[in-house]
Amino acid sequence: MYILALNASHDDNGNTAYLLNKILSYCQGQGAETELVSVHAAIADAKTPFCTACSTPCSKACYKGTKLEELFEKTKKADFIIFGSPVYFGSMTAQLKALFDKTRAIRAEKAWLGKPVAAVTVGASKYGGQERTLEAIHSCALVEGMTLLGNSNADGMGHFGVSAQKPAKEDDYAKNCCKMLANRIMEFLNV
Ligand SMILES: Cc1cc2nc3c(=O)[nH]c(=O)nc-3n(C[C@H](O)[C@H](O)[C@H](O)COP(=O)(O)O)c2cc1C
Repeated sequence: MYILALNASHDDNGNTAYLLNKILSYCQGQGAETELVSVHAAIADAKTPFCTACSTPCSKACYKGTKLEELFEKTKKADFIIFGSPVYFGSMTAQLKALFDKTRAIRAEKAWLGKPVAAVTVGASKYGGQERTLEAIHSCALVEGMTLLGNSNADGMGHFGVSAQKPAKEDDYAKNCCKMLANRIMEFLNV
């Protein structure tokens, strides 16, 4: 099983990365192969950071041969994708939204149809828009036809994924949600 986590923070060692790595390490402990990839680096490598609707259907012109194409190829191989984003103005980062906007070809190919996904977020405030951010990610995933998972599992009932307050490494509730989500993912994958 290959589980891919996408970090939509610019910070490779920040709070989002901390939470994603925590989930991945629980999955690794149950035998999964895992990888963490930077959305920020992939979008920054594309010829334009935003979708400019240059052609319909999308010819992938802005990301052919870039890290973004590599990221998309990895998503196609992944058995499970975890989207991680800090809360920015009550929603996902611009990098993650830009990534979703650049999936018109993926969507036309139905490459993410049915792909199971979960979402993880962290904000500076206790009620800074974490659940709205998860919902925004879920909405994009649903437009792709993806299958959403929350963090309820056979051992305990959770909610929508992982919502944390920074510093994430001191948020014990969120850290437990990471464990629950990892267990849910592994249950779902029947490992
Ligand atoms: C542009 C910007 C907007 C932000 N908006 C919010 C917000 O609406 N709510 C909140 O709780 N935190 C907000 N934050 C704080 C980040 O969510 C917080 O610092 C987060 O832990 C960063 O994650 P990272 O360490 O993975 O980069 C914002 C930060 C920035 C830079």
